Amino acid sequence: MKFFVDTADVSAISELNGLGMVDGVTTNPSLILKAGRDIREVTREICALVDGPVSAEVVATDSASMIQEGRSLAEIADNIAVKVPMTWDGLKACRTLADDGCMVNVTLCFSANQALLAAKAGASFISPFIGRLDDINLDGLDLIGDIRLVYDNYGFETEILAASIRSVNHIAECARIGADVATAPPGVIRKLVDHPLTDRGMESFLADWAKTGQNIVP
Ligand code: G3P
Repeated sequence: MKFFVDTADVSAISELNGLGMVDGVTTNPSLILKAGRDIREVTREICALVDGPVSAEVVATDSASMIQEGRSLAEIADNIAVKVPMTWDGLKACRTLADDGCMVNVTLCFSANQALLAAKAGASFISPFIGRLDDINLDGLDLIGDIRLVYDNYGFETEILAASIRSVNHIAECARIGADVATAPPGVIRKLVDHPLTDRGMESFLADWAKTGQNIVP
């Protein structure tokens, strides 16, 4: 499963990229607001830093303007994936941008039917939002499983990009179900390494090593 980082914070991306943990990046208007940076400038920086796809989202609501915004975003770098919303206008823009040769990420997906539409419209990625379904007492992970089944039934190549990930358990479950990508905030990715038994094991090994009085490097 690929890891994308869900942020427009360049230093957080850079830190995880240095660990070899960044296969791509996703941004959205809320994350651009949080970063407090100009969208074109920050997106260009991220694209230069990361080899994989960098999602940048359109904000228009009619297909013609979405296509115009998408083409403008796609000019920033070769690794841009234009993010469009799950609406009929968004799907129309998806088809046109995909025919242009752009990667398209269809966002705000909350049902298997929506995911089916995105695949038929030529999306490279579909972004089902797990956490926001959990927020309304539905099971976001069930949706990942449903989309996996539907795409596998028909051989759709659109990648399932699990989004709105809030916990390390979401990531483990996405990997178990077979999501192609999980995009998560940097803090959630950093927490993946934590385990109390790892900490306890380290403590006892280091305490015993100190008692040997040895050095590994002579
Ligand atoms: O990738 C989508 C993500 O940014 C939304 O996350 O936590 O606002 O639902 P959240």
